[in-house]
Amino acid sequence: MTLLSGDPFSRTLTGNTAVTVEHVSKSFRVYAERNQTLKSAVLRRRRSSYQDFWALRDVSLEIPEGTSFGLMGHNGSGKSTLLKCIARILQPNEGSIRTRGRLAAMLELGSGFHPELTGRDNVYLNGSILGMSRQEIDAKFDAIAEFAGVGDFIDQPVKNYSSGMYVRLGFSVAIHVEPDILLVDEILAVGDMQFQQRCAEKFAEFKDQGRTVVVVSHGLADLRTFCDTAAWLDHGRVVEVGPAARIVDQYIEAGHQAREVASGGTRHGSGEIEVERIELLGPGDGAGATDGAATDTRQFRTGEPVTIRLHYKVSTPVRRPVFGVSIHSIEGIHLWSHHTLDAGYLPEWLDGSGSLDVRIPALPLQPGSFDVNTSVVDESLSHSYDQWARGVRFDVLPGRPRESGGLLVMHSRWENLQPPTAMAAPDPDAGLGR
Ligand SMILES: Nc1ncnc2c1ncn2[C@@H]1O[C@H](COP(=O)(O)OP(=O)(O)OP(=O)(O)O)[C@@H](O)[C@H]1O
Ligand SMILES: [Mg+2]
Repeated sequence: MTLLSGDPFSRTLTGNTAVTVEHVSKSFRVYAERNQTLKSAVLRRRRSSYQDFWALRDVSLEIPEGTSFGLMGHNGSGKSTLLKCIARILQPNEGSIRTRGRLAAMLELGSGFHPELTGRDNVYLNGSILGMSRQEIDAKFDAIAEFAGVGDFIDQPVKNYSSGMYVRLGFSVAIHVEPDILLVDEILAVGDMQFQQRCAEKFAEFKDQGRTVVVVSHGLADLRTFCDTAAWLDHGRVVEVGPAARIVDQYIEAGHQAREVASGGTRHGSGEIEVERIELLGPGDGAGATDGAATDTRQFRTGEPVTIRLHYKVSTPVRRPVFGVSIHSIEGIHLWSHHTLDAGYLPEWLDGSGSLDVRIPALPLQPGSFDVNTSVVDESLSHSYDQWARGVRFDVLPGRPRESGGLLVMHSRWENLQPPTAMAAPDPDAGLGR
């Protein structure tokens, strides 16, 4: 019973289709007023204007039974919406979706969990929502708790859990439902290496048992290794469906991995001054280049110089503002930040518009995707004029130095290594000496 992972179209275990998506479109009603205050809501109540926003447009897909299927695409491309439609949490406006067999979904963080209930109670609650009987959960409970690895926390309310514990318990319930189809949104990004490894093993086991796994991930390396087939979504439409490795390559090639966050990130603050635009300038640019030759890019190599240029605009003059910039992993880990106070820059008054550069001489990041946040605060660092999270995302490709893993490069090297010694070669006649 082999499954040819390179060519999922030609052979599946059963020849059946687990999920059929036909011409699915889904729209959301988006109201025009954003960040509205109570006062403005009251003032505007008579003209609440809205638009229909199409999160999915005419999506058609077939997912063969027993394969693992990846969904990729930039932020806001419709991946989660499609999973929710397959899970029947959302109803498409147009088109139809058919699924074969028992379905379990692991969607947003902790979805389906009740914060006040203990882990144990949530296992029973969630398990029964997913279609398990009480006896079935009784029989599987220990295995569920064990796989989740939450230890004694199982009898604590889940509101006391770390996000990793939340995800592990939710995932553990979902897989112990033994669904025919498992839908997973972004789980691979959460949890430690050991948990990810166990998930990978579980997916492989699922596939061997003829089950179907549909995953959304920003981790392109994960998609390449976990998935047989992948679909690339862009602004709610399918760009391409095919063998995962090929689709991942096309996606990277098209430079679509790093795109501005669909919503432009999130922003808050009192707004007298705002960072309007962030430019990322590569080698040869920046460093005082004002001739317009500098190019804004979203792709760098480890070790390359990078200039982050913040374009600001002042609507009401501000006194002694402090600019800051930071870099985060796409999972949200804060890796670095630097503000102008560190450089002793504190203009008495700032008005009009202008730009500031932060120059990083050699980018100390491993290959991956990262987000840039900016802030403008007052001198005491307590009042925010403008906080812009995930304003731009960029990719790092392999460069120099090359170190094995993690998020950072440290320009490390191995030293003091023992010279190779002549080790006794295993004696081929000696058996295994048991
Ligand atoms: N309930 C909703 N109301 C209004 N708009 C929504 C709703 N849910 C999703 N959207 C919008 O639909 C689009 C697709 O969202 P979706 O969450 O499916 O994207 P995604 O590909 O999963 O993105 P990400 O990679 O950021 O998770 C986005 O522009 C999003 O803002
Ligand atoms: Mg999503």
